[in-house]
Amino acid sequence: MLGIFSRKNRCLGIDVGTTGVKIVELKLDNNMPIFANYALSYDSGSLLQSRDLEFLGDQVSEIVGAVLKQGKFGTKKAVLGIPGFLALISFIELPEMPQSEIEQAVRFEASKYIPTPLDEVSLGWEVVGSFQDKPVEGTQTRQSSKLQIMVVTVPKSAVASLTEVTRNNRLDVAALEIESFAITRCLIGNDRGTFMIVNIGAKATDFTIVSDGVIRMTRSVDVGGAEISRSIAGGLGIDLQRADKLKKSSQIDLMNKGDRTALLIYPVVGMILDEIKRIRELYHKKSPLKKIEKIIFTGGTSKMNSLVKYFAGELSLECQLGNPLARIGAEKKYEKVIEEVAPELAVAIGLALRGLGEK
Ligand SMILES: Nc1ncnc2c1ncn2[C@@H]1O[C@H](COP(=O)(O)OP(=O)(O)OP(=O)(O)O)[C@@H](O)[C@H]1O
Ligand SMILES: [Mg+2]
Repeated sequence: MLGIFSRKNRCLGIDVGTTGVKIVELKLDNNMPIFANYALSYDSGSLLQSRDLEFLGDQVSEIVGAVLKQGKFGTKKAVLGIPGFLALISFIELPEMPQSEIEQAVRFEASKYIPTPLDEVSLGWEVVGSFQDKPVEGTQTRQSSKLQIMVVTVPKSAVASLTEVTRNNRLDVAALEIESFAITRCLIGNDRGTFMIVNIGAKATDFTIVSDGVIRMTRSVDVGGAEISRSIAGGLGIDLQRADKLKKSSQIDLMNKGDRTALLIYPVVGMILDEIKRIRELYHKKSPLKKIEKIIFTGGTSKMNSLVKYFAGELSLECQLGNPLARIGAEKKYEKVIEEVAPELAVAIGLALRGLGEK
């Protein structure tokens, strides 16, 4: 009986990335989320190659099934991540209006700029703030209040594919959630202030600006660790496997501008750097009073030796490696291994945290 009882306090976070599946199990212990177990599929890469809808096919069900089996988890309750590139997050402004009228107004506004017909997407929205419009100079007009609304759309076909994955694996789905929300919960929690999260994965890098606990901007570029390995392999004339090993070694020193391998990595890392600068400028133009205080790095590639230090130097801004374990506890036996893989698990931990909050 006790076993069944305790399962209520557990949840899985399932992160389906372009290169693999990561699952984390969290449990509640005296109201504290504790890391209970995890399993990963490393390099199922060729199966999940495409950054397209088709990657959410039967193969994903199978890989999720294999990782579930490997982990022998203590619950079927799960929150699944929706890959960032499948979601469109945008912001609109509406005049102050009764709650009951917002839905219709949002749909009307959204239909103007969302490229797909509204009946093909699941649409969600949330009021994230309000502000006073400045009166036009020289007029007597009263200041009018405006609502800032975050609108999130995901293709219905993606939701259907993910639901299929959960059905095939007999999971009890507590929620589907977009990656950037999970990563924000995991790395920022209730911290106030303005931050940029940069998640450097294998195929893509995702950027999320969070201010006062609310996501304000998201972007994604198709550059990541795979491209770095390819550049090293091409430049040094070695195979990809050796290049990958070198990339993960302590020999990489991006602070040494004469280093031969570093020279090969700069153009790739430079693309991420340029995007950070571009997004920072864009955000500062939009919200001049909310300066980005810190950049928080996560994702497997952020573990590359000297990378975070290099970014800090180039950006003249505080940069740090995010700590996905900051808001959860961990059993002693897991501490060391979790520390090593933590940057890759930020999304899965954030997803599971959400599940613990849902009854
Ligand atoms: N110690 C390390 N140093 C450098 N790179 C590393 C290290 N460990 C892992 N990586 C790289 O991190 C990447 C995997 O990171 P992650 O698991 O965050 O990606 P992903 O979520 O599968 O990919 P994506 O987000 O693009 O879908 C791979 O390119 C891998 O080579
Ligand atoms: Mg990822």
